[in-house]
Amino acid sequence: MSLEAGKKQAAKAAMEFVEAGEIIGVGTGSTVNYFIDFLAGVKGKIDGAVSSSVVSTERMQAHGIKVYDLNDVNGMSIYVDGADESTRNLHLIKGGGGALTREKIVAAASEKFVCIADDSKLVNRLGKFPLPVEVIPMARSMVARKLMKYGGQPVLREGFITDNGCEILDIQGLDILDPLTMEQEINQIPGVVTVGLFAERGADVLLLGGENGVERIDP
Ligand code: A5P
Repeated sequence: MSLEAGKKQAAKAAMEFVEAGEIIGVGTGSTVNYFIDFLAGVKGKIDGAVSSSVVSTERMQAHGIKVYDLNDVNGMSIYVDGADESTRNLHLIKGGGGALTREKIVAAASEKFVCIADDSKLVNRLGKFPLPVEVIPMARSMVARKLMKYGGQPVLREGFITDNGCEILDIQGLDILDPLTMEQEINQIPGVVTVGLFAERGADVLLLGGENGVERIDP
């Protein structure tokens, strides 16, 4: 089975969590794009969505799905988003698409985070996928020096500016033994907007599409 087929299966399985009349939190990425396309099929059933990126907003609006500003809603029942890596206890690396800050905000505003991915994203330990860190541009070099203590190599994502007007350092070559502590420490560095570790608020359920259908993992 192709990775794309696995992503699509997982996205379809997430539709079971969508309830009538709700506003849904929607993430960013190729897996979520499948979810948005499925959501379009029931757009009359939901009230609308809160989006984690300009690109997801545009895709939903093209489908005629109403997109709310997060400031105009009281919170969402579910947030559906992909991941670059996940462990079985649902700690994640996210931000390969650069939307990590808004993803973390929308996840925090939602009761349940439903993570959807193809089964290649499941790992024993996080860190093989370069860990994205969104930074205020003037602090980039200082933050990069401080990140060296984790043993990896921070690399500027060339030519990329986030929806928030910031830059991204991707830390290559990590082996993350304690994602929760690392998330808390990196978030404390002045100039860091967000680190793409989702451990303090990981996913609540992981739907993994693969050869044998969709595996559901609860922490
Ligand atoms: C976007 O910033 C990311 O966090 C994505 O959710 C993540 O990179 C997964 O993307 P794919 O579904 O394209 O693999």
